[in-house]
Order: sequence, then structure tokens, then C-alpha cells
Amino acid sequence: MRTQVGIVGAGPAGLMLSHLLHLRGIESVVIDKRSRQDIEETIRAGVLEQGTVDLMTETGVGARLKQEGFVHHGIYLRFGGRSHRINMYELTGGRAVTVYAQHEVLKDLIKARLDAGGQLLFGVDDVSVEDVTTDAPKIRFSSDGARQELDCDFVAGCDGSQTICRFLIPDGEIRTDYFRQYPFAWFGILAHAPPSSDELIYAHHERGFALVSTRSPDVQRLYFQVDPGDSVENWPDDRIWAELHARVSGEGAAIKDGPIFAKAILQFRSFVCEPMQYGRLFLAGDSAHTVPPTGAKGMNLAVADVHALTRALAAYYESKSTDLLETYTSTVLRRVWRAQHFSYWMTSMLHRFPDASDFDLRRQLAELDTVTGSLAGSRLLAENYVGLPLT
Ligand code: DHB
Repeated sequence: MRTQVGIVGAGPAGLMLSHLLHLRGIESVVIDKRSRQDIEETIRAGVLEQGTVDLMTETGVGARLKQEGFVHHGIYLRFGGRSHRINMYELTGGRAVTVYAQHEVLKDLIKARLDAGGQLLFGVDDVSVEDVTTDAPKIRFSSDGARQELDCDFVAGCDGSQTICRFLIPDGEIRTDYFRQYPFAWFGILAHAPPSSDELIYAHHERGFALVSTRSPDVQRLYFQVDPGDSVENWPDDRIWAELHARVSGEGAAIKDGPIFAKAILQFRSFVCEPMQYGRLFLAGDSAHTVPPTGAKGMNLAVADVHALTRALAAYYESKSTDLLETYTSTVLRRVWRAQHFSYWMTSMLHRFPDASDFDLRRQLAELDTVTGSLAGSRLLAENYVGLPLT
């Protein structure tokens, strides 16, 4: 088999890259170890920046998003027992976010690729990538029991946090020590219940952080901070609702309960590797960086990476220019580090650290007061939340 760009991983980065390349007349093959069903059903985050929404709309994969997604013009920061709205729409000159689950984005991209005759191979095994420092890199894998070799011009490592591609960059050539572990995790639930709020609530509370999000008029997504060593078995439904009520309900906010049908604990990390390229290998998305979930930047960063990578590959195929390929890492890392900062900032402003003193809690409240009480502070949050424009 032969293609122009071999893509390892059918997540947001890999599928969006394949879609964008196709629109530029560049062929790709996407492989993934997971089944299509697994990819289309795994629950992840669900907030799309304005730039992600615009890109999906402009490239013909925005129809269902427009119909089923929820456009939110603001968020609430809740602290000291009261909700404070950040009017993102006004503060950013008309930008907003759309709540639409990541696996729905993946369904739309998979459908678009298959409808266009794209090659997506799910459930492959024994993947290896070779010769990335030559002009003819290869991906070897097993598919339906047969060994395959895919000859490529370039390989895109879009294989997420369990990446094999990142490990092709030799030790002396890569920094992997930009890393931070956080002393908490999120307990995430999906519940059949009416929405508790018209917009997302990010709640600071002395018992710990809580987040109220949504998925549809009758399915809600909520999260609350727990200890990283905690387990799902410790949390029967009653205890979950009591905790969410304690952290969020009160003046101007009321949690609405219902049957919970999914529970999971998400760990927190910040990570960046540098460079994100080696020879003819280019990393995009979680294979190269991870942000803590507060602010929902993960999928949006993956999309921004492959948007830049598409431009660079298109310039190569159109004019043999390698300038944009050579500067790929520095181009995308600027945005990645800004998202790292934003996610870290939101996380540290809103979560309870295990050793937090009363001083620390009061300092956090003052920070939230500064942000919500100042036009400049609110705008800083709003601009970063709706997302920087895609360059
Ligand atoms: C969701 C996830 C996030 O990390 C966030 O900041 C907001 C919403 C969500 O899954 O809906």
C-alpha cells in the first residue's frame, strides 16, 4: 500500500487531518488499534472553541453540530455562594463556544471521510513506524490477520497519550520533562436529568471544585473534584448528588438530579514534548501534549495542530516548500503553551489543593473577584475560553 500521509490514530487530530488533507487534494490513510464502535462511543469532553466550530462548518462537517450542538455565549464562575456570569460573546466581539460531545465530532469526521472514499482502517494490530529520517517512511501493521506495509511521504503521529510515535524521537533529540501532575482528579458523570443551568457553571467551593455541563435537553454532564486515589465504587448515586448539591446549589443555582448512567474518574496532567517533529514524522494532539481538563482545551488543541500541519503539508505538495514543515513545532507550541497556561490557571484558581490553608482559599476567592469584577480580567478569561483564532 502507498499513500502520501500515513496517519496513526483516528481521534480528533488524525481524522481532522485526513479530512483537511483531502480537501487540499492530499491522500492519506488512517489506522487505529481501536474499533470504530469504540472510537464512536468513548465519552470525552464536549466544548468546541469558536475556531473549531468555524473550521468544521467551513469544511462541510458542521451540519449536525449546528443542529444538535448548544451555542453558549457565557459561563458562570460560582464562588462565595453566588454565580458571576462572564459574557464571553460581548467580551470577545461575538465569539462563543458550542457544547457538542467529542465522540459526535468523531462520528461526523468518520462519516465524511468514508463518504469521500477515504481509507480508515480500524482494529489494526502490531503497529510499527520505520524510516522516519528517510524520504520513504513506512507504517507496518496487521489488519484482518494479514501483515501490511504502508509506504508514505510523511507520517502523522496522532495516536494520543498512549502514543508509540513519540517514542520514535530518540532520547537526546526530545524534551519530555515539561510535566506536571496535579493532586486531584475529576469524577465525571452522565445523568438522565433536566439541565441544571442554561450555561456551564465552574464552581469554587471549600469542599472542592465542581462543573456543571450538558449534553442534551435530557442528558447532563457533571464533574466534581476528588482525590486521585479515589474510586468509582466509593460513590453511590446518592452520595454524588449530595456532593454536587453541597458544592453548587444555593442562591441562583440548583442542581437537578436524575438517574446516573456513566461514572468515571479522570486523572490530571500537564505535559508538552518538544520538538513535535523528527525527520518526516509530525506529532499532533495528545501524542505531544496534554492539558488538565479545566477549560476543555484538549480536543481544540488537536484541531489547531492539524490545521497548521495541513498548511505545511499543502505548501510542500504545492511548491515543494519545506519552510512551514520546518517551523511546525514552533508554530504550534506557541498556542499549546498558551493553552497550558490557561488550563493551569483555571485549574489552580478553582480547585482545592490538599494542603490548602484558609489563606489559600481566601486568595483564590480574591482572584475570582478580580477576574469577575474587572472588565480586563473577564475579557482575559473570555478570549482564552472561546479560543484564539486559528492562524
Ligand atoms: C466539559 C469538559 C470540560 O473539561 C470543561 O472545562 C467543560 C465542559 C464537558 O465535558 O462538557
